[in-house]
Amino acid sequence: MTAEVIDGKAFAARVRGQVAKHVAKMKADHGITPGLAVVLVGEDPASQVYVRSKGKQTVEAGMASFEHKLDADTPEADLLDLVETLNKDPQVHGILVQLPLPDHMDADKVINAIAPAKDVDGFHISNVGLLGTGQKAMVPCTPLGSLMLLRDHLGSLSGLNAVVIGRSNIVGKPMAQLLLGESCTVTIAHSRTKDLPEVVKRADIVVAAVGRPQMVTGDWIKPGASVIDVGINRIDAPEKGEGKTRLVGDCDYDSCAAVAGAITPVPGGVGPMTIACLLANTVTACARLN
Ligand code: GUN
Repeated sequence: MTAEVIDGKAFAARVRGQVAKHVAKMKADHGITPGLAVVLVGEDPASQVYVRSKGKQTVEAGMASFEHKLDADTPEADLLDLVETLNKDPQVHGILVQLPLPDHMDADKVINAIAPAKDVDGFHISNVGLLGTGQKAMVPCTPLGSLMLLRDHLGSLSGLNAVVIGRSNIVGKPMAQLLLGESCTVTIAHSRTKDLPEVVKRADIVVAAVGRPQMVTGDWIKPGASVIDVGINRIDAPEKGEGKTRLVGDCDYDSCAAVAGAITPVPGGVGPMTIACLLANTVTACARLN
C-alpha cells in the first residue's frame, strides 16, 4: 500500500480563507477587528520563526497583530503585568505567550494569568478542565488541527483505536481528550511504554508527538492506518552538502508511507494547521467576548 498524502498546507490555506471571511464580516457588521497578541520572551531561534509567521498570517487574515518582545532576563513580575494589561485591552481578543519560557519563569503561573476567554492556546487550567469534561473550551491548536485533518480524511472516528505517542500538555494530552470526544479507544504511549511497536501496531490512528526524529518506522504501523506526524525535527543532511540540514517528523516517512493508508508529511502536514487554528481560535474568542 502507498499512503494517501494528507495535504495540511492546502487544508490550512482553506481554513485561513474561512477565517478571513469571518473577520471581514465582523468588521463590516459590527466594526470589530479581532486582535491577537503574541508575547515572546528571549531569543530562541525556533520561537522567533514561529512568532514572525504568526504575525504575518494574522495580518493576512485581516486581523490586528500585537507583538511584544521581552528580553530573556525580564523579571517574571513584568511579564505578569503585561499579561494583565493585555487581559484588560479591549482590542486584544487572543493572547499567546510563546513557550518555552526562560528557566527563571514559572510557565504554569504565566499561562494561568491569561484570561481564560482570551487563552487562544487552550493551555489555561480552566480550558484544560472544560476540554476534559466535554464542555465548550478553547482547544489547543496543534491537536485541533490534527483532528480536523483526521476528520476530513476518515469522516467518523467512532470506535477506532487511536494511539497518541507523547504525553505533553501542549499536544499529547489534549489530543487524547479530543480523540476520546470522537469516541475513539485511546491509548497514550510515552517514553516508558513497554513494547511500544506492538502498541502502535494495534492503532487505526497514530499521532506521533514525541520530538524524536524518525522514531516510528513502517514495521510499527498497521496496514491502512492513518498516521499524523506532529514532530518537527531538524537533522543533518550531508547528502544536501556539508553543514546542510533538513526537517523530518517523528515518523520515518518512507517506510511508514509504504504501509499506512494516509500520512501527513513534514513539512506541509500538521505544522501549517497550528497557525490556521490559532487564527480560528482568535476569531472564536472575539465573537464570544463581544
Ligand atoms: N511552543 C511550541 N508550540 C507552542 C504553542 O502551540 N503555543 C505556545 N504558546 N508556545 C508553543
